Amino acid sequence: MTAHRLLLTTFMKTVFVTGGAGFIGSAFVRLLLEENSDFEIINFDALTYAGNLENLKEFDETRHKFVKGDITNREEVFNALPDGCEAIFNFAAESHVDRSINSASEFVLTNVLGTQVLLDAARAKNVRRFCQISTDEVMGSLPEDENTFFTEESPLKPNSPYAASKASAEHFVRAAHETFGVDTIITRCGNNYGGRQFPEKLIPLVIANAMNNEPIPLYGDGKYTRDWIFVEDHCRAIRLAFEKGKSGESYNIGARNERQNLDVVKSILDALGKPHSLIKFVTDRLGHDRRYAIDAGRVEMELGWKPRVSWEEGLQKTIQWYRENQDWVNRVRSGAYRDYYKNLYGMEVGVK
Ligand code: NAD
Ligand code: TYD
Repeated sequence: MTAHRLLLTTFMKTVFVTGGAGFIGSAFVRLLLEENSDFEIINFDALTYAGNLENLKEFDETRHKFVKGDITNREEVFNALPDGCEAIFNFAAESHVDRSINSASEFVLTNVLGTQVLLDAARAKNVRRFCQISTDEVMGSLPEDENTFFTEESPLKPNSPYAASKASAEHFVRAAHETFGVDTIITRCGNNYGGRQFPEKLIPLVIANAMNNEPIPLYGDGKYTRDWIFVEDHCRAIRLAFEKGKSGESYNIGARNERQNLDVVKSILDALGKPHSLIKFVTDRLGHDRRYAIDAGRVEMELGWKPRVSWEEGLQKTIQWYRENQDWVNRVRSGAYRDYYKNLYGMEVGVK
């Protein structure tokens, strides 16, 4: 072992990040590598269609060790997780609602069983804190015309198979805390946006399609509301919840930025100088949640968090990232993506 490596392993705190090659997980890994010089990261990811090591290509292996593995595979998890690490951050998931409507089993496996395997491993290997990255979608849908918000006390009322699997995972995290005293934190965030998001999700789909002058599929009347947050702000809130959060607590994370889908799409088209006529209203998603809106009072008061990036700035940065990384877009809109797209929307995409 070199003196440098010895020094690193003596003073470093190890954190185990699952799903760290995906959109939010890679942003979290980047944040820790850039701002927490005393952390070394084991990034455990199965590299499904949504995982992409290109997302972290600028980092060498000094403080970032990548392990390809599946969180549902007990042996792979136990082999990769060292004893006594600071934290598990569980980002790994099947994350797209439309895919869960088409087939839910993968969601049960990864999001529920995978979380339980990680909880077992956390207990067996004396992990100091378990951080479960959850979603506001576990709380169902809010009425559109009322001044109501999701709080940490809102009941879990998931409507999509994706949300049901994430809610179920939360219950297992809670059970590990109550039954075995595992030190747990649950964060529930709203819709993230930023560079490196897979273009099955609304914002990158709109940017990618618009850049290629392809129709933008908009579900139903387009007046569904989401509470958008720039991905780096979400990651900073997770880090604060890990550092300062109370064991066993949940934290809702949101930037108080509700937008209707139609307005989001128009803003992107305007920024790209593309006509609104690209918008194509399509058959609505089954069980489509009307509105999400988060009361972020607890993370603001208890953790001292507030978002740093405004919607206007975040959207401009996001569009710029996709403009500058068209090769990335072309690569992820591969044959498998084109098949997925055709099956879901009945339209072709990415065909030149
Ligand atoms: P993503 O789909 O971009 O990435 C998921 C990552 O998990 C990929 O790298 C994939 O390879 C990996 N993965 C999937 N199955 C795995 C398995 N069985 N074992 C190991 N790795 C596996 O997802 P994302 O948008 O980055 O979301 C990350 C987490 O944040 C998820 O838990 C999601 O539920 C949650 N979340 C997402 C949002 C959002 O707006 N995207 C909002 C709130 C919460
Ligand atoms: P999405 O990015 O899939 O996130 P979620 O369903 O987890 O909120 O969708 C965001 C919103 O955009 C949601 O109301 C569904 C809508 N949407 C469309 O109208 N058309 C699309 O092609 C997609 C992917 C989403």
